[in-house]
Amino acid sequence: MSKLIQAIRGMNDLLPEAVARWQQLESAARQVLDSYGYREIRLPLLEKTELFSRSIGELTDIVAKEMYSFEDRNGESLTLRPEATAGIVRAGLEHGLLHNQIQRLWHAGPMFRHERPQKGRYRQFHQIDVEAFGLAGPDIDAELILLTARLWRVLEIDGLALEINSLGTPQARARYREALVRYLESRRQQLDEDSLRRLERNPLRILDSKNPAMRPVITDAPDLLEYLDGESRAHFEGLKGYLDDAGIRYIVSKRLVRGLDYYTRTVFEWTTDRLGAQGTVCGGGRYDGLVEQLGGRPTPATGFALGLERLVDLLAQRGDAGTQTRPQVYLVILGDALALPAMAFAERLRDQGLRVQCNCGGGLLKTQLKRADRSGARFALLLGEEEDRQQSVSVKDLRSDLAQRQIGQTEAAEFLKRQLG
Ligand code: HAM
Repeated sequence: MSKLIQAIRGMNDLLPEAVARWQQLESAARQVLDSYGYREIRLPLLEKTELFSRSIGELTDIVAKEMYSFEDRNGESLTLRPEATAGIVRAGLEHGLLHNQIQRLWHAGPMFRHERPQKGRYRQFHQIDVEAFGLAGPDIDAELILLTARLWRVLEIDGLALEINSLGTPQARARYREALVRYLESRRQQLDEDSLRRLERNPLRILDSKNPAMRPVITDAPDLLEYLDGESRAHFEGLKGYLDDAGIRYIVSKRLVRGLDYYTRTVFEWTTDRLGAQGTVCGGGRYDGLVEQLGGRPTPATGFALGLERLVDLLAQRGDAGTQTRPQVYLVILGDALALPAMAFAERLRDQGLRVQCNCGGGLLKTQLKRADRSGARFALLLGEEEDRQQSVSVKDLRSDLAQRQIGQTEAAEFLKRQLG
C-alpha cells in the first residue's frame, strides 16, 4: 500500500458530527444579522498581495510573516486572504457600493495565516466578518457590539468579557507612539526579546504581550487615552453611553491595540477564559482611513470578525451537539428487480416533503436494516415483491417496538408525516 496523504498542518477537516455545531452557529449568526439589516457578500479566497500589505500594514505580524503568498503562472503575487475586511473594501470600491452610501455587509468563510498551530489557532480558520460603511458616529459602533451581545444570547453563550479601547486618530496615535517608545527605551533592560524586536517597528503591540514578566512594564506605560484628540474622546464617551444604556458591561483596556494597522478610534474584543491562551472569540473596530488608503473617497467604516472555531469550541464544551438533519425515512429494497420502482417511490416521497435515504448497493434485509439504523432515520420502509404487487410498503418504526404495518404507497407520505409530527 502506498503512503497515506495527510491534511496540511493547522488545516482541519470538519466531519459531519462536528459540522452540526457549525450549522447551529452559522444559522444563529445569519438570523441575528438579518434582524439588524446586514446583507451577505461573497468574495474570492485569493486577492492580490498588495491589497493586504497596503491595508493590514507591512510591519504587522500578519503581513510580515504569516501570509500564504505565491506567484501565479503569470508571475503575479497573490495571497490567500488572511482576513476579510480588505477584500470587502476592495469589492465595495470596485462595484461602487461605498461612495455616499450606507452599507451594512457580512461575509463568511475561511481565512489563512501561517501561525504556529495550537488549540484555537489554526492556519486555515473561519470567520464571520461584519462591516458597516458610511457611518461615522459611535451609534454604529454600539450597534455592532449590541449585535454580538445578541448573538451570545441566542447561542446561550455566557461569561464573555467585552474589552474596549480607543486608538484615536492616526495623528494622536503617532504622538502616543513617540511617548511610548521614549518610555520603553527607559525600561529597555526589562523588555523581552519579542518586545525588543517590536520596539522599532510596532511598539504598540508590546502592550499586547502575553508574557507575565512584561506585566509591570505594561502597567506603568503611558495611557493612550490621555493622548486622544477631543473628537475621539467624545466618540469614545458616546460609545460608552450607548453600552451603559443597553446594560452591556465592558472593561476599558489600554492594552487592547489589535494586530492590524488600519484601526482608528474604537477597538473592541470579546474574550473568554474557557479556551486557554486563544480566548478572543471576536475582534474588531473602526477603520476610517482604509477606504481612502485603498483608493476610494474618505469613508468612515467599522466592523468585527467572529472566530468560528473558538465559538464552536465553546458550544462543544457545553455539550451542545447541534442538529444536523438526518433522513426521516430509510427505504429498504428487497430484490434487485425492485431497484427502479423503489427509486421512483423514494422520489415521490421526497416530492411530498420527506427526507428519504434510499438503500443503494443491495444487501440482505439484516444488512439494510443495520444501515437504516445507522442513518438516524426514524422509519424503515420495506419494499419487497409482495408489497410491490400490492402497491404498498411495510413501515417499521426503528425507534420503538411498535408492530410493523403495511400501508398503500399513495398514503405512505401522509401517514409518515402524521407520525413524525
Ligand atoms: P482578527 O483579530 O485578526 O481581526 O481576527 C478576528 C478573530 O478571528 C479573532 O478574534 C479570532 O477569534 C479569530 N482568529 C484569528 N486568527 C485565528 C487563527 N489563526 N485561528 C483561529 N481563529 C483565529 C480581523 O481579522 C479583522 N479583519 C476584524 C475586523 C473586521 N475589524 C474590522 N472589521
